[in-house]
Amino acid sequence: MVKPSSQVLFACQSCGATFTKWSGRCGACGEWNTLVEEASAARPGGLKAKPSKRSGSGQIPFTSLNSPESPPPRIQIGVEELDRVFGGGIVPNSATLIGGDPGIGKSTLLLQVAARLARNGLKVVYVSGEEASAQIQERARRLKVADSPVELAIETDLRKILRALKTDPPDFVVFDSVQTLWSDSLDAAPGSVAQVRACAQELTHWAKTSGAALVLVGHVTKEGQIAGPRVVEHMVDTVFYFEGERGHQFRILRAVKNRFGPTNEIGIFEMGPYGLAPVQEPSALFLPAERDVHGGTAIYAAMEGTRPVLAEVQSLVSNSAYGTPRRSIVGWDTNRLAMLLAVLEARCGLSLAGRDVYLSVAGGYRISEPAGDLAAAAALISSIANQACPVRTI
Ligand SMILES: Nc1ncnc2c1ncn2[C@@H]1O[C@H](COP(=O)(O)OP(=O)(O)O)[C@@H](O)[C@H]1O
Ligand SMILES: [Mg+2]
Ligand SMILES: [Zn+2]
Repeated sequence: MVKPSSQVLFACQSCGATFTKWSGRCGACGEWNTLVEEASAARPGGLKAKPSKRSGSGQIPFTSLNSPESPPPRIQIGVEELDRVFGGGIVPNSATLIGGDPGIGKSTLLLQVAARLARNGLKVVYVSGEEASAQIQERARRLKVADSPVELAIETDLRKILRALKTDPPDFVVFDSVQTLWSDSLDAAPGSVAQVRACAQELTHWAKTSGAALVLVGHVTKEGQIAGPRVVEHMVDTVFYFEGERGHQFRILRAVKNRFGPTNEIGIFEMGPYGLAPVQEPSALFLPAERDVHGGTAIYAAMEGTRPVLAEVQSLVSNSAYGTPRRSIVGWDTNRLAMLLAVLEARCGLSLAGRDVYLSVAGGYRISEPAGDLAAAAALISSIANQACPVRTI
């Protein structure tokens, strides 16, 4: 088969996979309506073809595993919830991606971090392509960090940004967001998979050689017209997702990839009028103020990294008014609920046919550990039996 030279490619805006044919669903990640035509995506991650810097002899330098130099010290933010998630502070010469839904608080968190580090004497640059400087200055006033010597720039042109950074390299730099950056060496539109990848690659490469710690903000996108943060996950050292539930004040910073630390640690924050405040005692957020007297709840002790978090599983089993009973869940997995119900029917002699089942984890918390099944089963049995679990039982 002869391939046309200027092949049209369709890139998934969620995972970055490319296909030669369009289809409604991405064959790689299974997301719907995320394939978008990207003519110039053929050079993934590559900017303007640079002359390759080949050494005359064609040799590469080898080194040993045992380095005589000690690595540069980590940058301590001084907020335990953050330093722990980073694996003991931010590593210089590194690239971090912070993903999350729009409005979850990424800019707020990073402005607070930037301000702290700048106050501690580091050279800190904050580049925004999303907001006007007045907006960011207004946020800084609200967060009471306007007096911090953060250097703010509103720019989206990667070439200009890199020129400025190379002239006067900072210790810590934030890009808010990676989806607004564009490089003139690609025809693709800003926000496309090709642009987002190329810009992230170039910046990551710069960070590795300059000594700076780089943080890229990436919005989780729903529409599929803008590339999501997942397309750059593989090129950065550390990937965090900032999560939270609508209508709840708490936010969780979760490490999903960390080349310098564990990935099971989380940092818990509360969004307040002065920004995000660390929460040292998270159980208080997820536990109800009053004891259950009617039955249907059970307390579960989850392990989040090195810390236990108490959460309440709430359930309600009631007679169904519909032909097909409802199964409704919050903070839980549908398939695991179906399995639990099957076990309760088959092994515990409980009849759930014709009954609606609601299961929710209080406070907007999510339980993903299989051990949580026991708490869910206890909550369901408690609801069916109309009898509260014994007080002080976990
Ligand atoms: N004046 C304000 N007072 C209190 N909270 C605010 C105020 N303005 C914005 N916020 C909070 O900050 C959030 C926006 O955070 P932001 O850091 O801009 O999110 P992101 O960068 O993730 O899109 C809003 O959803 C809101 O909860
Ligand atoms: Mg923002
Ligand atoms: Zn995909």
